[in-house]
Amino acid sequence: MLQNKRVVVLGGSRGIGFAVAQGAVREGAHVIIASSQEANVASAVGRLPEGAATGAVVDVRSVESVSAFFAEVGAFDHLVFTAGEPLPFGKPVTEIDLATARGFFELRYWGAFAAVKAARPQMRDGGSVVLTSGTSARRPPAGFAFAASICGAIESLTRALALEFAPLRVNVVIPGMVATDLWSGVPSDARAQIFRTMAAKLPVGRIGEPDDIAEAYLSLMRNAYVTGQSVIVDGGAVLI
Ligand SMILES: NC(=O)c1ccc[n+]([C@@H]2O[C@H](COP(=O)([O-])OP(=O)(O)OC[C@H]3O[C@@H](n4cnc5c(N)ncnc54)[C@H](OP(=O)(O)O)[C@@H]3O)[C@@H](O)[C@H]2O)c1
Repeated sequence: MLQNKRVVVLGGSRGIGFAVAQGAVREGAHVIIASSQEANVASAVGRLPEGAATGAVVDVRSVESVSAFFAEVGAFDHLVFTAGEPLPFGKPVTEIDLATARGFFELRYWGAFAAVKAARPQMRDGGSVVLTSGTSARRPPAGFAFAASICGAIESLTRALALEFAPLRVNVVIPGMVATDLWSGVPSDARAQIFRTMAAKLPVGRIGEPDDIAEAYLSLMRNAYVTGQSVIVDGGAVLI
């Protein structure tokens, strides 16, 4: 059902977003991959079949960059927002600097907000928006207060937009722990230990791969009867 659809993936050059781009291309969509680093965009487009994708350099922290991109992109069907950055977890509210905490809303929350605002006039009937949250909105460990707040705000934005943007559909995916470059700032030994510990606790016995999560975005784009929903793909993490 994504045959001949135009799909914009903001944050599509790596990780979950790139897996969504690959899946959409497999289903016959044309994908526009956008992210902030030109080399990442070029590499992502180059890894997809020739002619199936185009790329654009967009910094979602910049309203000007986002507006200029959507002014140029032309009519399209689906917007996927997976742009993200690592959040410093385990920071109690009493210890985190307020400006730093505020700053982390810029990319994931205000970036998504700016994107949907600029994208809406370009979106065709029958299309959809799929945003990205995280399990800390549902099950925040101590020290995750501001990360949980960002994720919770995105879920609320999704439900509000499902009414405001109707008949366009708006949904959000909530990934659990996924092996992507998002974790590259953690030294490899410590990262492997974190992944092993989490895998041992999860009912499914492993952490997620980008394709596991991409499946939910693809389904939400295809299924014309789902809107305003948060889909958790976490291997059972919110249950443990
Ligand atoms: N991986 C996990 O365990 C996990 C768990 C829960 C939620 N999530 C969320 O899922 C989303 C995707 O995560 P991921 O694991 O796929 O991360 P990733 O592999 O690090 O990919 C992040 C993507 O965002 C792009 N990006 C970063 N800053 C940007 C900016 N200012 N403007 C535009 N694009 C930007 C990156 O490309 P450039 O560097 O070229 O800009 C890249 O394409 C994020 O919101 C993340 O927080 C991930």
